[in-house]
Amino acid sequence: MKLFLRLGILSVSILGMMDAAYLTYEKLSRTLPPCISGFDCGSVLTSSWSSLFGVPLSFFGLVFYFITFIFAALHILEIDHITILNRKLHTHDIQLGLSIFGALFSGYLVFLMGVILQAWCLYCLGSAVACLVLFILNVMQWYLKRGTCSDLCSSPRSVVSALLYQYIFKPLFFLFDAEFVHVSMTTIGKTLGSWGVTRRLVSWMFAYANKTLIKTIDGIRFPNPVGLAAGFDYNAELCGILPSVGFGWHTIGTVTFRPYAGNAKPRLGRFPRSNALLVNKGFKSVGAQAIIQKLEHTTFTIPTGISIGSTNATYASLDDQIADIVSCFKLFLASTIKNAYYELNISCPNTVGGQPFTTAVRLKKLLVALKPLRIKKPVYIKMPIDLSQKESGALLKTASGFSFIKGIIFGNLTKDKKNPDVHPMDTVLWKKSRGNLSGKPTWNRSNTLIAYTKKHYGKRFTIIGTGGIFSGNDAQKKLVLGADLVQLITGMIYKGPQLIGEINHTLAQR
Ligand SMILES: Cc1cc2nc3c(=O)[nH]c(=O)nc-3n(C[C@H](O)[C@H](O)[C@H](O)COP(=O)(O)O)c2cc1C
Repeated sequence: MKLFLRLGILSVSILGMMDAAYLTYEKLSRTLPPCISGFDCGSVLTSSWSSLFGVPLSFFGLVFYFITFIFAALHILEIDHITILNRKLHTHDIQLGLSIFGALFSGYLVFLMGVILQAWCLYCLGSAVACLVLFILNVMQWYLKRGTCSDLCSSPRSVVSALLYQYIFKPLFFLFDAEFVHVSMTTIGKTLGSWGVTRRLVSWMFAYANKTLIKTIDGIRFPNPVGLAAGFDYNAELCGILPSVGFGWHTIGTVTFRPYAGNAKPRLGRFPRSNALLVNKGFKSVGAQAIIQKLEHTTFTIPTGISIGSTNATYASLDDQIADIVSCFKLFLASTIKNAYYELNISCPNTVGGQPFTTAVRLKKLLVALKPLRIKKPVYIKMPIDLSQKESGALLKTASGFSFIKGIIFGNLTKDKKNPDVHPMDTVLWKKSRGNLSGKPTWNRSNTLIAYTKKHYGKRFTIIGTGGIFSGNDAQKKLVLGADLVQLITGMIYKGPQLIGEINHTLAQR
């Protein structure tokens, strides 16, 4: 990739030099180069704008391309910095500066041709294209050096996506209400997922596939270990597009037995200082029946799971709440949906009554009620992350007594307002808001609990690592600690959709 960029810059600067040298020669010998119809090279090259202080502009172009060529050659020779007036300057910084200058100046020349002279010179346009390409290649090179891609950019497309997302789309999205953006992106994703051509385009742009990433776990073949966590595609709209984005698996939901319109708005916010989202959806869901109707004729191209939780409501008793979850499972089990697994969400902190199944006694009651359903597909429990190791250990011990529970997901959002991984200013804001945090504030706690589960139940449970994955290194850290698979949402919001390919690329490289 690096060599590709360096050779690209070198080649384009040579082409630019040839173009500028030819125009300079023609100008000095007072002749005009051949032109093609539709262009009017003569008007441009003989105009008063074609010289500066009596020197042909093309000569300045020649000097510009020559300097660009020299720096590209230095870079290929691995000379990464030069010292001028006792100051160490990085060659990629100088190259970027040169290319910005070149792009701006050629933009000015294009403006002169299009607006002032109203005539186009083929050679000058060629030079403008060369400057634009040099600019793009230099920006890519600069960002590769600076590490804009979380670790290793998987392709030039990945760098371009990362840049576009970081500097254009994210700032734009962050101007609007977070839930509005989420709903809009879901609509766009659903539309893109409906046609083969757009799916292929998205896949070309973002996805990274490598045979070394394939894993078979609990009888399910995962094309890669990176999944979309529950909560993003809560109404099952994105089955078409997510494989093209590069995900290896995907959880729909959390789905509840009865529909729920969601908690009062605002339901979603951002804490950029903490790299977190503030979530207060409270299981917004169209309900199990509607999801089943939607999915019964869907063929999944990656393993897809259904996350099930209790309908967000006030219950007369714990038994009623358990009955609600059991009813939801029964509906799905009676359907013909080809989901690969289920998640049992016991850890949503945004619902009425909080997290009722996060004590060993209550969890056991729930699992005892689910056991007679003889669920064949693996069930993974989505765990809370704010409990102590001892409390979490008690839940793991209980879950380990039920053979249909195949795995554990650590974990859900953090509701702990003393969480040290939240920026102090966000903690103040958080205390005044409703909702709980995803992203980096969940990173350390989920890691600790993954390592704990690996140590004590590594042979018993499949472990899924979720929380604060923003890069390939982050995903790898969770895998090294003991996770078999990883899931994310917030990293994608902060870094862009190319993150999934980048993570997979990083994992494959290592
Ligand atoms: C907008 C949003 C909605 C969520 N809704 C759910 C949900 O319905 N069910 C669930 O199990 N987890 C839900 N979560 C938690 C995520 O699945 C995940 O566990 C958590 O965000 C940590 O991962 P992340 O840091 O990669 O986002 C939600 C998270 C976000 C950001």
